Amino acid sequence: MTTTSQQPDYTTDRKTELIDLHPPAADMEQLVRIGLNRCPRQLPAWFLYDEEGSRLFDRICEQPEYSLTRTEIALLDSSAPEIAAAIGEGVIVEFGAGSAQKVGPLLEAAHPAAYVALDISAEHLRKATTALQQRHPRVPMLGICCDHSTLSSLPEHPLLRKQRRIGFFPGSSLGNFEQDDAIRVLRQFKQLLNGGPLLLGLDQPKSKVRLEAAYNDAAGISAAFARNLLHRLNADLGANFDPQAFSYQAGWQAEQQRVQMALISRCDQVVRIAGERWSFQCDEPLITEYSLKYSPERAVALAQQAGWRWLRRWHDPEDDLSLHLLEPTD
Ligand code: AVJ
Repeated sequence: MTTTSQQPDYTTDRKTELIDLHPPAADMEQLVRIGLNRCPRQLPAWFLYDEEGSRLFDRICEQPEYSLTRTEIALLDSSAPEIAAAIGEGVIVEFGAGSAQKVGPLLEAAHPAAYVALDISAEHLRKATTALQQRHPRVPMLGICCDHSTLSSLPEHPLLRKQRRIGFFPGSSLGNFEQDDAIRVLRQFKQLLNGGPLLLGLDQPKSKVRLEAAYNDAAGISAAFARNLLHRLNADLGANFDPQAFSYQAGWQAEQQRVQMALISRCDQVVRIAGERWSFQCDEPLITEYSLKYSPERAVALAQQAGWRWLRRWHDPEDDLSLHLLEPTD
């Protein structure tokens, strides 16, 4: 964690400004308490993304079993002119920009008035926007470190003033949220985008074998990514987890159309977190994240329930994943 301040902290790095609204440690402690009192235990997925977590996620995207990122980048590349024509003019606001490796073709094709990148990982975001700014010097850029799922409005900023907003939420990151939360988040984005459209990337259901391999790669990066959650709780909240005392499991749950990723306690153990003691029983799971998959039909239904009208979709040649274009109803 880079800062625990709730006040916007304006810092400039070259040309790209970064506004840091990362939740303070006290809020994270409270979220841990809530998450560990759930049954089964589960923490918000954004806890996975400290600096090391963001780095490990980038490595997952390079694993042969995890094709999502490569496929979506290729789709964005080949469809950029069409997408640019469909989204129109304004400021592109990306939710969960990570390394910001997907928006390039859209910046080239759409010439937006500005690019605003939101991500929970401040240092990673700073590096990503700095590198992107060098490649696209004419597009004004702004980084906002925040938990976009609980953000009620975008901060006041000259780049956002009086501009039409175009939301960009790729990578199937919405899949981290269970159904009701996904609807809540999409409603929230409608508010953040002020009447503008949303380009939403969603991965689709596929075979159990393929999905379980994608979330449990042979090189062990997915496992390291999940275990890093415990390292980060140790570092940021003074916990004393032994990450090796937990094994990693990823399983496709067909009924819920989701992959569940969890750390399983290898023994009975007691862990101290922010001064409190928590016991974990042998074989007890701590869910690190879900990855919900949406067929095109279910994506349309989800959008509708959240107050969005589905306009069209682009998909890759294998039809593994979709980029859905939505506009707010009314
Ligand atoms: C960033 C949530 C889209 O669900 O595929 C990948 C996260 N975790 N491998 C996904 C993830 C482990 C990823 N999302």
